[in-house]
Amino acid sequence: MIKEKDFSAKLAEARDYIKECVRMSPDLGVILGSGLGAFAELVLEKQAIPYKDIPHFPTSTVEGHAGQLVFGKVDGRQVVVMQGRFHFYEGYNMHDVTFPIRVMQGLGVTGLVVTNAAGGINPDFQPGDLILIKDHINMMGDNPLRGANLSSLGPRFPDLSAAYNLEWRQKALVIMQNYGLRPQEGVYAAMSGPSYETPAEIRYLRAIGADMVGMSTVPEVIVANHGGMQVLGISCVTNMAAGILAQKLSHVEVMETAGRIEKQFVSFVQELVRVL
Ligand code: HPA
Repeated sequence: MIKEKDFSAKLAEARDYIKECVRMSPDLGVILGSGLGAFAELVLEKQAIPYKDIPHFPTSTVEGHAGQLVFGKVDGRQVVVMQGRFHFYEGYNMHDVTFPIRVMQGLGVTGLVVTNAAGGINPDFQPGDLILIKDHINMMGDNPLRGANLSSLGPRFPDLSAAYNLEWRQKALVIMQNYGLRPQEGVYAAMSGPSYETPAEIRYLRAIGADMVGMSTVPEVIVANHGGMQVLGISCVTNMAAGILAQKLSHVEVMETAGRIEKQFVSFVQELVRVL
């Protein structure tokens, strides 16, 4: 059970520690998913704080995640970048998974770009495609807002009917067109993982309207919306989901595909930081 006083105090400690380390007030946060960490290299006047140094921050364990909060400027705009995120499948609870979003909220962040690696369910997608998230389906069996509501952070029953900001999506689609990327959108289904899905689960997800599947993003997006942030979500299709092609899924394939499109991805996010 989330205890209001404890949680607020932890948040304040984390925020105050960061404020002592960096004299910046970014309004935009970026979460870099598996294999997509290279964007952090674009950040100038960089100040990186390892997660392990921030009070009450969980630490990231999965391969491909550096585990640090990077502050700095991209094209003159102040940003805070999560290089590596906390996954529900690692064993963290939903409050831990979303703690960094709350800290960003405390630091004055009002917009969030969330990225992930995902399996493609929609047969129009191909490995290597970047897809804008237009909506999500929470299949994780939990919700980060369960428990007492901290009204200082947001409302008890937040509206998610436009969880992925329409205006931002439209801007992102224009950028995709300009960059020669196919301007595609889809619905992201979040599973708890860590096992990949079965072909039957993928057929089910397809039937209920999902275009891609992953093991992250939804908790952070729920909390960001609760905290009044505007959100843009991008999935990198690293593989076709289970049963779509006659081949096995592997984390190696996921990381390889992410690596292959990393340059495109980095330019895309850089342009987003300019226009959002
Ligand atoms: N399923 C779930 N999560 C994923 C996948 C997948 O196929 N690919 C990358 N993350």
